[in-house]
Amino acid sequence: MAVRTYLVTGGAGFIGSNYIHYMFEKYGDDIRIINVDKLTYAGNLENLKDVEDHPNYTFIRADVCDGEKMMEIFNENDIDRVVHFAAESHVDRSIKNPDVFVRTNVLGTLNLLNAAKAAWENEDGTFKEDKKFLHVSTDEVYGSLDDDGGYFYETTPYDPHSPYSASKASSDFLVKSYMDTYHFPANITNCSNNYGPYQFPEKLIPLMINNALQGKKLPVYGDGKNVRDWLYVADHAKGIDMVQEKGRLFETYNIGGHNEKQNIEIIYTILDCLREILPDDDPRKANISEDLITYVTDRKGHDRRYAIAPDKIKKEVGWEPDTMFKEGIRKTIKWYFEHEDWMKNVTSGDYQNYYESMYANR
Ligand code: NAD
Ligand code: DAU
Repeated sequence: MAVRTYLVTGGAGFIGSNYIHYMFEKYGDDIRIINVDKLTYAGNLENLKDVEDHPNYTFIRADVCDGEKMMEIFNENDIDRVVHFAAESHVDRSIKNPDVFVRTNVLGTLNLLNAAKAAWENEDGTFKEDKKFLHVSTDEVYGSLDDDGGYFYETTPYDPHSPYSASKASSDFLVKSYMDTYHFPANITNCSNNYGPYQFPEKLIPLMINNALQGKKLPVYGDGKNVRDWLYVADHAKGIDMVQEKGRLFETYNIGGHNEKQNIEIIYTILDCLREILPDDDPRKANISEDLITYVTDRKGHDRRYAIAPDKIKKEVGWEPDTMFKEGIRKTIKWYFEHEDWMKNVTSGDYQNYYESMYANR
């Protein structure tokens, strides 16, 4: 079997790095991965320490907004699969500084589409055999659900509210337009909230774990009853791979595991798990207390509830999540607890300024 070449963008981030681990574990030497990442604050090569010497792994530091560079990468490599993760991903940052979200998420996606199209298109406008582009997107493009029911289906109209979700919606529409106009061989996946190892501690779960271990306040936005639908990150990686290999081209697939939780429930679970996992003689154990929970000013435009209907990916592709929330959250907390150095490294320097600017007067 020929070795298949993947171009993964944003592979040094949270989901991208978990996807690269997943793919090498699954396919070993049968695949080659080229990871293109700008290494913004969210990109961290430490996430890929255990694959960096793999003979079939290459890292290229580049910005997806650099169109010429993207073309060059396609010209120099016979790329079979693109899995496009690279994005600005944090809603709170998008509220403070929307511009970079439009640049990376919209223009970056356009550049990649153009580079892949130029490399894969035949003279007659058809595309070379077995070339596929997968755009990794989010359930936030569908907007917000009421507390009392409903789900996001692939047919749910787009209704993004934050600059982040608006930029992701724009990028989805660009991918859709390339499929409709050029018959460009692509899929889109819209996934719910991921959790697991290597997530940057600006996001709810790692932020709460890190703060609790240090005895710092746990800042809950609004009434703490906003609902997110949580999926263990390896199950997202598995879904992406299955859609790309077994899904119908030109289709969108929602990915989610029916794990709806209120934010406040997540925080109580984290505190309970930490108490259970930390040995009695660990000095950090004394910090773990419900008294740390602090209600703060709500996020502007805060979406109330997300919930994915994963019927299509289950039926057509045969995808099922492997990790249930109870097990996944325990594994995740244990990982952060055992990787104190990783957390120290990512929270040194700029992170303190970020934290001050987001939370100091909230
Ligand atoms: P992340 O912020 O952890 O990682 C993003 C990565 O992209 C980083 O490595 C960063 O350096 C890189 N990057 C940013 N701008 C770049 C640029 N201009 N050029 C090249 N690389 C650049 O994000 P994540 O949580 O891993 O999310 C990955 C993708 O999955 C995003 O597209 C996001 O919208 C989508 N998604 C995330 C979730 C979630 O819960 N985190 C859920 C559904 C979909
Ligand atoms: O739904 C998928 C999306 O999930 C992805 O597309 C995004 O990239 C990802 O960041 C995530 O977005 P959310 O805004 O849902 O995730 P976040 O972890 O920022 O927040 C989860 C919930 O927790 C949300 O209701 C806001 C709340 N929250 C968050 C933080 C950081 C707090 O109450 N306090 C906090 O300090």
